[in-house]
Amino acid sequence: MPLTRLTYYSTRKIPPQEGFRTIKSILDASIRNNARDGITGYMIFDDRIFAQILEGETAVVSRTYDRIGADPRHGDLVLLERRPQATRAFPNWAMGATLFLDEMKDVMSKRGMTTLDPSKLGPAGVLGLAQALHAREQARKPAQRMPTAR
Ligand SMILES: Cc1cc2nc3c(=O)[nH]c(=O)nc-3n(C[C@H](O)[C@H](O)[C@H](O)COP(=O)(O)O)c2cc1C
Repeated sequence: MPLTRLTYYSTRKIPPQEGFRTIKSILDASIRNNARDGITGYMIFDDRIFAQILEGETAVVSRTYDRIGADPRHGDLVLLERRPQATRAFPNWAMGATLFLDEMKDVMSKRGMTTLDPSKLGPAGVLGLAQALHAREQARKPAQRMPTAR
């Protein structure tokens, strides 16, 4: 079955005081739907931006991206890349994410980044950052991992 990896970023439209609760509910829906649909990936965010990698069967990735694009909790989506892919980068994650901003800042600063700027990072940079965050998450003891792993 043809596999696609899609990478985009968007502007958050969530009131700051609702941040954590809303993101948790986005992740809960993502994990539920993506596990059903054979989608895997990783989501990165800060207080202004979302960046997300979706991988899965080509038509299903398109459908999922269309649905996500209509979500009023973000806007101004910019598609960085949509390409055929032989293997998945996040095979065990229906939708991984790092919910700890301190940890993300730490991983970013080790990579010489002060702010999350997907337009500068490009698709390879977003993937590299997501993989570094993912590796941190995998290194955590299972009981301490985010409930985003399948
Ligand atoms: C930044 C962002 C990322 C999202 N990622 C996903 C995703 O990977 N999968 C998904 O099904 N929904 C995702 N959503 C949520 C969808 O827009 C939509 O609310 C959800 O799929 C509806 O699911 P439901 O009908 O089961 O409630 C995302 C939303 C936002 C704002």
